Amino acid sequence: MRILITGASGLLGGRLATLLSENHEVTGLTRRRRAPDGITAVGADLAEEDVVRATLDHVRPKAVIHCAALADAEVCERERDLARRDNETATRTLARACTRNGIRLLSISTDLVFGGGFSHAREDSPTDPVMEYGRSKLRSEAAALEESPAAVILRVALVCGRGHGPRMSASEGIAHRLRSEEPVTLYEDEWRTPIDPESVANAIHAVLRQPKLTGLFHLGGPERLSRFEFGERVARALGLDSGLLRRASQASHLGAPRARDVSLDTGRARAELAWSPLPLEIALRDGR
Ligand SMILES: NC(=O)c1ccc[n+]([C@@H]2O[C@H](COP(=O)([O-])OP(=O)(O)OC[C@H]3O[C@@H](n4cnc5c(N)ncnc54)[C@H](OP(=O)(O)O)[C@@H]3O)[C@@H](O)[C@H]2O)c1
Repeated sequence: MRILITGASGLLGGRLATLLSENHEVTGLTRRRRAPDGITAVGADLAEEDVVRATLDHVRPKAVIHCAALADAEVCERERDLARRDNETATRTLARACTRNGIRLLSISTDLVFGGGFSHAREDSPTDPVMEYGRSKLRSEAAALEESPAAVILRVALVCGRGHGPRMSASEGIAHRLRSEEPVTLYEDEWRTPIDPESVANAIHAVLRQPKLTGLFHLGGPERLSRFEFGERVARALGLDSGLLRRASQASHLGAPRARDVSLDTGRARAELAWSPLPLEIALRDGR
C-alpha cells in the first residue's frame, strides 16, 4: 500500500518509516530534519492547509500515519501556542485534507492523555491529562475524529528500543548515559508500559489490513514498570552497570507536571488486531 508517514524525521515516525517500508510504498513527510536513509521524503509544515493539500495531491497515499507532533512536554508547557499549532491545528488540517481526498488516517497519540491516577487504562477510561502536552494531544485526537470520523487513533506508550533522529528513545537515553559511566536518576513512583517501534509497526500493519476498523486503540508493552525498574531492565538487557542507577521520587521533579501511572490496557488491540507486543527483553536489545 502507498502510505505517507508524517514526522518521518522524528524518533518514532522515522523508525516506523524504515520498518513499514519493508511491506509498503512509504513516503516520509518531514519539516526541518531528515528522514532515514532510503526513504523518499517530501517537505511540508502540516499547519499550512494549502501545502498539506498539495502534498496529498502529489503523493496520493491510501493511508496517512500521522506521527508529527510537538512531543517535548517541557516545550509544550512553556510554549502553549506552539503546542496548539503543531499538535491540534496540524492534525485538524491534515485530517480535513485526508477526508477531502478519501485517505484513511491513522493518528498517533499518547498514554499521557491520562491523568495517572490508575493502572492499565482502557480506551474508554476517563482522560485527564496533567500537563499541556497531554492536553494538546487530547485536542489533537478530537480534531482528528471531528474532521475524519473514520480515523484510527493509536495511543502509544513510552517508546523504547531503536528510534531515529536526534532524540533518543527511553532505553537509548539510559543506555547512552550508563555507557558514558554517568549516574542515571529514575523515579520509582512513576509507572509506564514501554513499547518498541517494531511492535507499533506490527499493529499498524494489522490496522491497514482491516479497512473498516475505526476509533481508539491502546498500544502498550507487555509489562508495567516503574521508571527505576525500567532502568534496571535496560542495564540487564544490555549488560551495563546498574550500580549507576539512582532512585528518586516524582516529588523532586521541577518541570512540567508528570503523570504517575499511565500504563495501558491493550485488550482491544490484542483481540481485534490479533496483535501482541514484543517481549521487553527483546525490544530493549535493539537501540542506537
Ligand atoms: N517518544 C515517545 O516516547 C512517545 C510516547 C508516546 C507517544 N508518542 C507520540 O509519537 C509521535 C512521535 O513522537 P516522537 O517522540 O517521535 O517526536 P519527535 O522525535 O519530536 O518527532 C516529531 C516530528 O514531528 C515533526 N513535526 C512537528 N510539528 C510539525 C509540523 N507542524 N509540520 C510537520 N512536521 C512537524 C517534526 O519534524 P521536524 O523535526 O522535521 O521539524 C519531528 O520530526 C507523537 O505523536 C507523540 O505524541 C511518543
